[in-house]
Amino acid sequence: MSLSPELASDRRIMLIPLDEPLLRDLLATAVAEAEPAEVMPEPVEGAGWSPEVREAFLRFHLTRSLSAAPVERTYAVVVDGTVAGAARLAPLEEGEGAAESSLVEGGVWLGRAYRGSGIGKAVLRELVHGAKAFGAARLRTRTTRENTSALHLLGALEGVERAESGSEVVFTVHL
Ligand SMILES: CC(C)(COP(=O)(O)OP(=O)(O)OC[C@H]1O[C@@H](n2cnc3c(N)ncnc32)[C@H](O)[C@@H]1OP(=O)(O)O)[C@@H](O)C(=O)NCCC(=O)NCCS
Repeated sequence: MSLSPELASDRRIMLIPLDEPLLRDLLATAVAEAEPAEVMPEPVEGAGWSPEVREAFLRFHLTRSLSAAPVERTYAVVVDGTVAGAARLAPLEEGEGAAESSLVEGGVWLGRAYRGSGIGKAVLRELVHGAKAFGAARLRTRTTRENTSALHLLGALEGVERAESGSEVVFTVHL
């Protein structure tokens, strides 16, 4: 997926399917520009970017997106030629009888230097298009009650439903 430059600010933003070289750049951006909890969809043990957490980050993407049988699609968000973050779409199975493709989970993170200038909004819009292209009926994203920018961004999506579950807020976009 590639975003048109006019979609967000005046920067050239692209979503490029993750490969191993991009994954190395993505780890470097994550370590320099984000907290592990912001970029890892699953909880991580310990604080900061320890060698174990870096390894878990690589393993997560290698097994889920870059294996012979990937279970999700991950894109590097490339801004003006630099890897700025990542976006992901993962089809979910929801209970018996549900079509596998009917629900897709999405997520996006950007390095600190890239936040607050409309890039997240443009990437999310592209994820909505991507989920529709998967044939999904709904796109689900999760964040925490404290994540003001994500709450604002996700809550503004067209056709969105918000539900709270413990410390999480779950947004479901009806596509
Ligand atoms: C959440 C995240 C992707 C948002 O991306 P972003 O590029 O910073 O967001 P944008 O600049 O596109 O802003 C989107 C909207 O949120 C608003 N916003 C941004 N930061 C805000 C803040 N701290 N408080 C209130 N509103 C805020 C913007 O004004 C904008 O609203 P508008 O469209 O009405 O003007 C980014 O902050 C991030 O990567 N955070 C860490 C990872 C994460 O939390 N991911 C979310 C899980 S899906």
